[in-house]
Amino acid sequence: MDLFEYQARDLFEKHGVPVLAGRIADTPEEAEAAAKAIGGTVVVKAQVKTGGRGKAGGVKVAHSPAEAREKAEAILGLDIKGHVVKRVMIAQGASIDKEFYFSVLLDRSNRTFLALCSVEGGMEIEQLAVERPEALAKIPVSAVHGIDKAKAVEIATAAKFPSELIAAVSDVFVKLYDVFKKEDATLVEVNPLVLTTGGEIVALDGKVTFDDNAEFRHEREEMERDQLDPLEAKAKEMDLNYVKLDGEVGIIGNGAGLVMSTLDVVAYAGERHGNVKPANFLDIGGGASAEVMAAGLDVILNDPQVRSVFVNVFGGITACDAVANGIVGALNTLGARAGKPLVVRLDGNNVEEGRRILSEFNHPLVTLADTMDGGADKAALLANK
Ligand SMILES: Nc1ncnc2c1ncn2[C@@H]1O[C@H](COP(=O)(O)OP(=O)(O)OP(=O)(O)O)[C@@H](O)[C@H]1O
Ligand SMILES: [Mg+2]
Repeated sequence: MDLFEYQARDLFEKHGVPVLAGRIADTPEEAEAAAKAIGGTVVVKAQVKTGGRGKAGGVKVAHSPAEAREKAEAILGLDIKGHVVKRVMIAQGASIDKEFYFSVLLDRSNRTFLALCSVEGGMEIEQLAVERPEALAKIPVSAVHGIDKAKAVEIATAAKFPSELIAAVSDVFVKLYDVFKKEDATLVEVNPLVLTTGGEIVALDGKVTFDDNAEFRHEREEMERDQLDPLEAKAKEMDLNYVKLDGEVGIIGNGAGLVMSTLDVVAYAGERHGNVKPANFLDIGGGASAEVMAAGLDVILNDPQVRSVFVNVFGGITACDAVANGIVGALNTLGARAGKPLVVRLDGNNVEEGRRILSEFNHPLVTLADTMDGGADKAALLANK
């Protein structure tokens, strides 16, 4: 799980890493109130899980609550590399003297942890690593010893921090390693870590990735709910394998491989029909019961962007007649809520019986397709109507 910046900020605070005040806002009004509560100059920051927010216009300084409201209005709804901003963080403004870089991560290829550190922070670290590799210190960190004070001093020294800053930054590195270890993270990154004009070391931006294999050791329900799109949260509650995408054609299939190829075929067909695209990934798995089908359809039909749905099922252990009964059951359960056209392609085990059930059901919204390509084309055509 990747955290949003505001979640990383809260986590840092919990572990004693120096951070500035920060509050989240989902509307310009909330942004204004947050800026008022924090007081003074603030920075309005887009909360999206992608880098380069500043360059994309997603990080803006505001000198008054009214200005924070204006800046939030400009940033909310902004598309940053395909991520639409739904929430901003209002961060207390720092008076920056210098910007540094620090991260600790799991280095899979060398089977160890690795600390990366530079006195040239702020800019994209990938670019620094390529253009001036000598400016980026790379220090392996053993999982047994971690980053204690001595190791932190070694890292700060290798990164060529001026001697008068080494004590202060190494204290922060020890705390950041504490976050990494106690929270079972695979990445803790701070860019920039800054020296303020007042002489304090502060983490101004944080990225944290948790190791999902260690999820059972932590209580993170609230954080998780905050992570997810409302449709994804609902799907998760129903134990569905669902990922929201950005298009108009809802997709249901059985087996991850079939669903992936269905996404491809629909995207390809969409090129002929106004560039419509898949709206989601949803794998209902082997036992496609009526309940699972109903739950899946319910989630997909609740996506306001969805204009048609393509159900693409290959009957195996769960035969096509069971899937067809699932669709009939789902449409009966959903009733008037199932107000979007459904294209169904069934193949495999017991396909004749499956098709017969759907033909007899004779639902005005359901179209049967013989092939995957044909079904994708029909669904794309209906989404473009
Ligand atoms: N609270 C703050 N006070 C003053 N300046 C800030 C503050 N937060 C960020 N900045 C300035 O804005 C720059 C960009 O901010 P930040 O690192 O959070 O976003 P980014 O680097 O554009 O996004 P990402 O890290 O996702 O690529 C920082 O390098 C810093 O100069
Ligand atoms: Mg940054």
